[in-house]
Amino acid sequence: MNTKSGSSCEPASVHLRAATAADIAVMIALERKVPLAAHWSEQTYLEILAPEAPPRIFIVAEDHDTIIGFLIARLTDHDCELENIVVTPGLQRRGTGSELLRALISGARARGVSRIILEVRESNNAARALYEQFGFAITGRRKSYYGSSVELEDAVLYALQL
Ligand SMILES: CC(C)(COP(=O)(O)OP(=O)(O)OC[C@H]1O[C@@H](n2cnc3c(N)ncnc32)[C@H](O)[C@@H]1OP(=O)(O)O)[C@@H](O)C(=O)NCCC(=O)NCCS
Repeated sequence: MNTKSGSSCEPASVHLRAATAADIAVMIALERKVPLAAHWSEQTYLEILAPEAPPRIFIVAEDHDTIIGFLIARLTDHDCELENIVVTPGLQRRGTGSELLRALISGARARGVSRIILEVRESNNAARALYEQFGFAITGRRKSYYGSSVELEDAVLYALQL
């Protein structure tokens, strides 16, 4: 799957596929490099990928067999909640995040989901611009949702009607 060309990098040649338990170590290493990503333990990833786990859309993006990004979203009755989307620093702004989000939207549609929801730090301009480019609209705000008591930040809630 080819992505658009970026401003300063060569275009990525990104292949998307479903995540497996074999990807966990690489995904953890990736999200640890990205402070704004959600950080989960190996146990949490194992639980998410277990056969009895609640349904999710869990996609990795590979460039020449190297995982350069991934996306996790939980499916409920009518909604799909985007829980994490992350692209390797240095390989961002080449269209990979868009490819992942596009795959989420088509996967959610195929499963009859009516709405994708998510929450994001108010200051996360890159992610917010990505979501808004795909038509997500602000639906609310959680006051002082992120951080410690010293440094609190609101969560902005978004939804995309499918
Ligand atoms: C958010 C993220 C996944 C986007 O991935 P990406 O591969 O860089 O996204 P794309 O290249 O497809 O960019 C699509 C659009 O997102 C927006 N965008 C991406 N990076 C941006 C940046 N640094 N500043 C402003 N807008 C940005 C732009 O609107 C961009 O479109 P454009 O390039 O035509 O202007 C990536 O920045 C990331 O991993 N961020 C850290 C983790 C994170 O914040 N996750 C979300 C938690 S809720």
